[in-house]
Amino acid sequence: MKIFNNPNDLKEYRKGVKGNIGFVPTMGALHKGHLSLMERSKKENDITIVSIFVNPTQFLPGEDLDQYPSRIDADKRICELAGVDALFIPTSEVMYAHTEPMITVPNMPGYILEGLKRPGHFNGVLRVVMKLLNITQPTHAYFGKKDAQQLYLITNMVQSFFMDTIIVPCEIVRESEGLALSSRNAYLSDDEKKQALKISKSLKVATRALMKKEFSAANIKAIMMETMEGLDVEYIAIVDRDFNEIETIVLKHSIILVAARVGKTRLIDNLWI
Ligand code: PAJ
Repeated sequence: MKIFNNPNDLKEYRKGVKGNIGFVPTMGALHKGHLSLMERSKKENDITIVSIFVNPTQFLPGEDLDQYPSRIDADKRICELAGVDALFIPTSEVMYAHTEPMITVPNMPGYILEGLKRPGHFNGVLRVVMKLLNITQPTHAYFGKKDAQQLYLITNMVQSFFMDTIIVPCEIVRESEGLALSSRNAYLSDDEKKQALKISKSLKVATRALMKKEFSAANIKAIMMETMEGLDVEYIAIVDRDFNEIETIVLKHSIILVAARVGKTRLIDNLWI
């Protein structure tokens, strides 16, 4: 596996490889969710490139940038074992070397919820993803449905800016008990982990209600709220696939989104229905 720290070196490498190029951008502290993206890329491409970069511009002041888990040696081993061809680990200095024009996400579909709760977050995400896609020039880039709004806005950016990458949405990977894998789960104590399970449980309860033909968004939200009693729920939202809030769930066209705090840790999860 080749490791690059410098955008120009990776660009040189990219010029020398042919065929389908799969790219998996991450912030490291890799888990099985990340691994599933890498495995899918391996299966669907000739070359797989992974990046690990804790992007400072997508963290708001007071968020967990300084504590964000870092396990670079373990991450390198995971990538090596997964058969990744090239790993890009840049520094902030090389990624943000110049004063530059900004990408600003306006109040548009997909900007609700996380966009409003974390103003500036998606500007930072799109800014870094634009840079990473320009450096790696992948034919395919893999993103998890776990970050549903991120996936939506990146897909929109790639279309709007006529970029040549196919964005591939990937399924959410969960622990056996249901908790969606996240690098931020590392912050949870054992007791908090048990509490956090209420989030995925609320989505399971919603699935069961849907199977019994309960399609009212208000009723589904109410039973989810009951399941998450004791948690600091930031929002439960039921939206169509363009992130417009809906009153009646239409199967195959809707998403249930949840954000909740467990202790100091903010977790998000969702269900595509
Ligand atoms: P990070 O949180 O490290 O996630 C990297 C990719 O893994 C994202 O596409 C995310 O949706 C996906 N992912 C995370 N947990 C997952 C799970 N349990 N199942 C499936 N996929 C999962 O998202 C980011 O980093 C950053 O915002 C980034 C896109 C790299 C830009 O900095």
